[in-house]
Amino acid sequence: MFKIAVVGAGYVGLTTAACLSSLGNEVRCSDIDSLKINKLSNGISPIFERGLDELLLSSLQSGRLQFSSDNKWAVEKADFVFLCLPTPQGMNGEADLSYIELAAKEIGQYLKSGSIVVNKSTVPVGSTSIVESELHRTDVSVVSNPEFLREGSALSDFFNPDRIVIGSRSPEATGMMKKLYDSFSSPIIETDPATAETIKYAANAFLATKISFINSVAAMCEVVGADVRVVSKALGYDSRIGDSFLSPGPGWGGSCFPKDVAAMIKMADDTGYDFSFLKGVVAVNEAQFVRIVDKAKKYLDGSVTGKKIAVLGLTFKANTDDLRDSPSLKICELLIQSGAIVTAYDPTVSGQIVGISIFESPFDACSNSDAVIIATEWEEFKTLDYAKLSVSMKNPLIIDARNILNPEFIRGLGYVYEGVGHSL
Ligand code: UDX
Repeated sequence: MFKIAVVGAGYVGLTTAACLSSLGNEVRCSDIDSLKINKLSNGISPIFERGLDELLLSSLQSGRLQFSSDNKWAVEKADFVFLCLPTPQGMNGEADLSYIELAAKEIGQYLKSGSIVVNKSTVPVGSTSIVESELHRTDVSVVSNPEFLREGSALSDFFNPDRIVIGSRSPEATGMMKKLYDSFSSPIIETDPATAETIKYAANAFLATKISFINSVAAMCEVVGADVRVVSKALGYDSRIGDSFLSPGPGWGGSCFPKDVAAMIKMADDTGYDFSFLKGVVAVNEAQFVRIVDKAKKYLDGSVTGKKIAVLGLTFKANTDDLRDSPSLKICELLIQSGAIVTAYDPTVSGQIVGISIFESPFDACSNSDAVIIATEWEEFKTLDYAKLSVSMKNPLIIDARNILNPEFIRGLGYVYEGVGHSL
């Protein structure tokens, strides 16, 4: 087993630290946020991720996982140093590498000779070389090992990756990485850093493409009278297409797709290639938010001004508490801009969001509302007491942006119902 440092205790870093320590490695995880570090040292996870609390506690109790705000303490004895730092979207879509550059400059002073710095964050193509230069060390290697973790299933995605990508120019470093992942049965792609970095962007861009594609097919289905749910199912049987990421919805969001797709477009632009196809994927996504709001307007005499619209689900998808780039919040913004009074309920969200009245129960959020928009596919929204809900509403209208309800059943309760991509 190895001594491992993880720099950055966010969604990726925390998952990586907890999982690697549960495999028997000795892990030290550092983060500049001392409040977060204190919570983690006491087994309190700042993120909502199925199974992470338990894994965190067992790793802490075993003594194989420790937290600190001190990067020097974390990295000085490490065989591997995972950089799991934010690469936020810059003003023009490019990825902001300042966090990674700063960390590399700092840890370069403390790394032991022969250690391997592992770029886990999603970083623009060419970043491995940037980290190498910031480290100012010739006796350590830098490897790209992109993560493919989905929020809500991060642990299972870590332990059962579809593939492990290792991007390195050093055969020794690649060999060491393969030893680290020795207990995994997944296929390993050994390649150069630039190719490894491109694989990550291409993966997210393609997944976003699949979603924008099915959302476009859904829009077509609505005008030709077809049912996108059946179209999607039939497409999924084709092994060349696959059945995942073909669920129409309010559009894609989250902390990765919007940032990574924009970065890929910017990288292409910077090299003189106009990735117009991917720009179209983004345009379809932006239009999807508007389409959902237009569905509500359609049943409210063309306007939501002065109307009370309840939004069920604020997170960017179910089984996470993450609001970053949430399509639901984009829809709320459009509703507010159109003069609507917006209320909301989400099982993981409380507190204040400007312009939105957030309630602790779906019934309070929907009380006296002119329409309900289901924006996130939380399990509890599938089994809500819609008969009781309709009584509390001023106007029983449901826009089901995730197609999670049975239209016949809902209409049987007296609702006007519209989903995405079908008129059934
Ligand atoms: C994504 C990638 O899946 C993961 O591999 C990468 O490491 C990080 O980015 P994540 O952002 O957690 O993971 O969310 P994901 O499950 O991919 O969903 C992204 C968005 O697409 C969400 O808004 C989701 O609601 C939407 N989506 C997903 C659809 O609208 N339809 C689908 O069929 C699937």
